[in-house]
Amino acid sequence: MMCGKTCLDSMAGSGRGARVTCWILPEIRALAIEQWGQRIRVSHEGWLRLHCWGVSWSKFLVWNQEEHCLNSACGVALLGSTGSIGTNCLDVIRQLGGRLRVTGLAAWQSRERLLAQVSEFQPGWAVLGNRQVVLPEAGLGVQSGSVSWYAGFEVLDELIRRPETGTVVCAMVGAAGLPAAWAAVDSGKRVALANKESLVVAGSLLMQRAGETGALVIPVDSEHSAIFQCLQSGRRSEVRRVVLTASGGPFRGWSREQMRAVTPEMALRHPTWSMGPKITIDSATMMNKALEIIEARWLFGLTREQLAVCVHPQSLVHSLVEYEDGSVIAQISPPDMRLPIQYALTYPDRISGPTKRTDWSTAQTLQLLPPDFEAFPALRLGFEVAEKGGTCGAVLNAANEVAVERFLQGKLDFLSITQLVEDILFSHNYDPGPTLPQLAAVDSWAREEARRWKS
Ligand SMILES: NC(=O)c1ccc[n+]([C@@H]2O[C@H](COP(=O)([O-])OP(=O)(O)OC[C@H]3O[C@@H](n4cnc5c(N)ncnc54)[C@H](OP(=O)(O)O)[C@@H]3O)[C@@H](O)[C@H]2O)c1
Repeated sequence: MMCGKTCLDSMAGSGRGARVTCWILPEIRALAIEQWGQRIRVSHEGWLRLHCWGVSWSKFLVWNQEEHCLNSACGVALLGSTGSIGTNCLDVIRQLGGRLRVTGLAAWQSRERLLAQVSEFQPGWAVLGNRQVVLPEAGLGVQSGSVSWYAGFEVLDELIRRPETGTVVCAMVGAAGLPAAWAAVDSGKRVALANKESLVVAGSLLMQRAGETGALVIPVDSEHSAIFQCLQSGRRSEVRRVVLTASGGPFRGWSREQMRAVTPEMALRHPTWSMGPKITIDSATMMNKALEIIEARWLFGLTREQLAVCVHPQSLVHSLVEYEDGSVIAQISPPDMRLPIQYALTYPDRISGPTKRTDWSTAQTLQLLPPDFEAFPALRLGFEVAEKGGTCGAVLNAANEVAVERFLQGKLDFLSITQLVEDILFSHNYDPGPTLPQLAAVDSWAREEARRWKS
């Protein structure tokens, strides 16, 4: 892909007459123009974006990959570096040994953790979003060694556009990650997107903007990474259905009556994945799967009828794509987020990394079970919101974020999380085509309602 050679973004058409979009290093710009002349348009700084018309893409790839392999580390800006995805991402970069280079790190308030990461990875810049956290280094643009420190996330928009960054990893949690995800997409760079909430809230606008800027959005969520991989087995027009797998969380098989007494401690014990607290609670209510249904709807441009969920307790099959001829393609690997993170960073290359491999010498059982919509009504909400779009995603997400917070504080019981979300969703003033500011207003309204909500 990008390091050591170019990175192919997309190909439209086939053979002669195809259009190729790829990233190249500035150093080979002149060579590319010499080779392909007027049929090339270059549109980016740093890593350059080439659009080539009327060339044979197979020839173009051979030219890029065999004749002009350059050794250059690829710059990664990691937003949300101190979280579960962030630390896994740094582990991938550490283990790939110099193939990727950290250009910037951003966290909300985990000061000590960010300091340690900066000391190890020596990025060009580091940002703490929460201005209340006292960090002597984090004045505006304060230089400390080779690192520039900043306080407040407003500066991210400018920092991620710097030419040394080729990939932006969006790993902040919640709708708070939307401005950063928007800036990343707006910059037209490769975006490794873990922050599913930004797609749930503003998926239609984000993907439309990606189309305009040429940003390549690659999912980090394991299910969406699996779908992204399975989609490479056929044409989009041949896809009948996308099936997202769900572990079922810690309460798989429980009745609603049994779930009445669930405490935060019980809900935070996920059987197969180790993740941040918010997504762990979302997995227990299966609201996480609802968010993922909506995420998939926007990311892959699917209809309600093309989306399905099945429960797979072993978390080995990360999702499946069913094609028109009846073939079902699955992506299988041990449950380890470092694999989808690595793939988002190295796509389309597959290289040996830190992830554990499937052990084919021991017997494995793979169960694929229908979901229980009655015990987990959040699933139904996910399909309804995926179908309606508009302001629904922003309301569902905001209400859920507040509900999870109230549950973790012991102020809301477990079953009320989904009930609260449903009540606020159905009482809101639906708008089918909101702008970003309108989505922000709806988000604030839903949060206020969720804080006031009583069962
Ligand atoms: N964990 C997983 O395995 C997994 C899998 C698939 C998708 N995802 C998605 O990836 C995203 C991150 O999840 P996570 O589990 O890594 O979360 P996490 O462990 O809670 O980490 C969240 C990160 O976001 C930062 N953050 C916290 N509050 C913020 C705010 N108000 N504004 C901006 N940044 C803030 C945190 O900084 P501080 O540490 O400084 O607070 C931290 O770096 C979520 O959208 C989640 O749904 C996660």
